[in-house]
Amino acid sequence: MAAIINPRKVAIVGCGFVGSASAFALMQSGLFSEMVLIDVDHDRAEGEALDIAHGMAFGSPMNIYAGDYSDIDDAAITVITAGANQAPGETRLDLVNKNVAIFKSIIPQIAERDYQGILLVVSNPVDILTYVALKLSGMPANRVLGSGTTLDTARFKYALGEHLGVDPRNVHARIIGEHGDSEIAAWSLANISGIPLNDFCELRGHTDHQRNMDRIAEEVKNAAYEIIKKKRATYYGIAMTVKRICEAITRDEKPILPVSNYIDGEYGLHDIVLSMPAVVGASGIEYQVPIKINETETEQLKASAATLRSVIDKLDL
Ligand code: NAI
Ligand code: LAC
Repeated sequence: MAAIINPRKVAIVGCGFVGSASAFALMQSGLFSEMVLIDVDHDRAEGEALDIAHGMAFGSPMNIYAGDYSDIDDAAITVITAGANQAPGETRLDLVNKNVAIFKSIIPQIAERDYQGILLVVSNPVDILTYVALKLSGMPANRVLGSGTTLDTARFKYALGEHLGVDPRNVHARIIGEHGDSEIAAWSLANISGIPLNDFCELRGHTDHQRNMDRIAEEVKNAAYEIIKKKRATYYGIAMTVKRICEAITRDEKPILPVSNYIDGEYGLHDIVLSMPAVVGASGIEYQVPIKINETETEQLKASAATLRSVIDKLDL
């Protein structure tokens, strides 16, 4: 008998840099009244739960504790941040074998419980691990999503906001495809509060569009490598991304986000998970939002999909 979902409960599997930062961001958000932390290193989960709980007097009260898979049954969202992270210079795809093996130990423990909540995959390579979670769990595609290029898109907004001297929330531009080296900056749809991007750039005295676009796209694509080189891992930007996606689900806000989601037909692609715009709400992926990208971007998207497909085809799922 499936458990009744508690909309104010979240579970986090993996309490390392990303999982603990996400737990802290979610505790500060006030979205949840209960949070269970699960880690193969149970002491780590207990330590993170205690450390965050000790700030409770300054935040919104919540029940936060270390637990196990029996505690996720009624969680509205289960965030998966378990897995190896990149060593300096390592790509996200280099993590695939290690982290697929970890997912093969985690996902069945969730699926066998007839879990009725939403899986939010963060571990890398996130698009592929979202596909793996979908296939291994047998859950409906709308309830299995990944953070995708939502973090890359936030980086893109930040970089353009800095370049143009404008609030990043007024920058409407997105990164799509793989959360990784084959990601695509969808320039053809970019605008600043509805003003065509090049017009706004010229308003701000920038005219060398191609050079600036190439520079900014590279900066965004390589952001994680830069941070990992300096501080060993990235975790604050992704924690805030996790908070944003949980907010969209918990409050049924229905924003359009480039999350990792299952594609079978759109863009001429089949049986793949890619980071493409979708409306995110109480049921997870509410519906996909096909975007009209230009020919170059379409070719790049197909190449990104082919890269992921070539990795998936080698997996024993
Ligand atoms: P970390 O090494 O600090 O933490 C990983 C945690 O997973 C550890 O506490 C470990 O004990 C736990 N773990 C390992 N196997 C487990 C299992 N079978 N069951 C439960 N827990 C298990 O790594 P970090 O920096 O937190 O990164 C975690 C993952 O998140 C990595 O794959 C990293 O690449 C990814 N990541 C994804 C981002 C995105 O934008 N999608 C951004 C940043 C990191
Ligand atoms: C990032 C990597 C770690 O984008 O996925 O921060």
